[in-house]
Amino acid sequence: MSGSVALEVRGLAVRYGVITALQEVSFRIPQGDIVTLIGCNGAGKTTTLRAVSGLLKPSAGSIQFEGSSIAGLPPHELVRRGMAHVPEGRMVFANLSVLENLHMGAYLQRDKAKIREMLEFVYTTFPRLREREKQLAGTLSGGEQQMLAIGRALMSRPRFLMLDEPSLGIAPLLVKTIFEKIVEINRTQGITVLLVEQNANLALEVSRHGYVIETGRVILEGASPVLRQDPQVRAAYLGG
Ligand SMILES: Nc1ncnc2c1ncn2[C@@H]1O[C@H](COP(=O)(O)OP(=O)(O)O)[C@@H](O)[C@H]1O
Ligand SMILES: [Mg+2]
Repeated sequence: MSGSVALEVRGLAVRYGVITALQEVSFRIPQGDIVTLIGCNGAGKTTTLRAVSGLLKPSAGSIQFEGSSIAGLPPHELVRRGMAHVPEGRMVFANLSVLENLHMGAYLQRDKAKIREMLEFVYTTFPRLREREKQLAGTLSGGEQQMLAIGRALMSRPRFLMLDEPSLGIAPLLVKTIFEKIVEINRTQGITVLLVEQNANLALEVSRHGYVIETGRVILEGASPVLRQDPQVRAAYLGG
């Protein structure tokens, strides 16, 4: 699959009623890469992911996943085609156990052997989830809930994984672990990753390519090491 494009978004626009949240968002993610969208609070990152996942209907633009247009397809169809979305704020089922949450991620999978295999991968990746298998998700720390949200997304055996601010509200030590795991998941499973972050420093460290979003537009893009040196990016996102 090398050289092919996993996701191509062109001229994406999204409105909430009269409010234009995205005006012109275009980006491309090669198969097997980690690409990041960085931007401040309110820039349009979550809206972009929700449009790609089929949760919001674009008012303009095109979205191609593995070469076919996915505009208008419902979220469950996109999951079936190999997309997974870890939402902002994690959204785990607080009153279900860790294991029950993970099974929710495999709701389209009928093959029990495949479910067991993926569960084993999730538990090997995040040993804490195995230790807390029977615990209610609501009793986990923020970082553990983030691991669970990622694990739940992996249970659908995606080829393409979107993560919405995995570092938000998480203790720094766990943030580091989670970013290491994202890289590991990408490398070992060959899963393409779209990472959305306000934490530009970390996101540009683990990604190959980055796009900067401001008020619903991509204003800058480049190889991540280049963006990290860019004076505009340093001033606005990396604390100078
Ligand atoms: N449900 C909504 N209704 C109206 N406006 C919204 C809604 N969700 C987001 N917005 C607005 O859309 C813009 C982009 O928001 P969002 O995509 O959440 O940004 P980010 O994820 O980068 O913080 C912001 O101006 C925000 O206020
Ligand atoms: Mg957001």
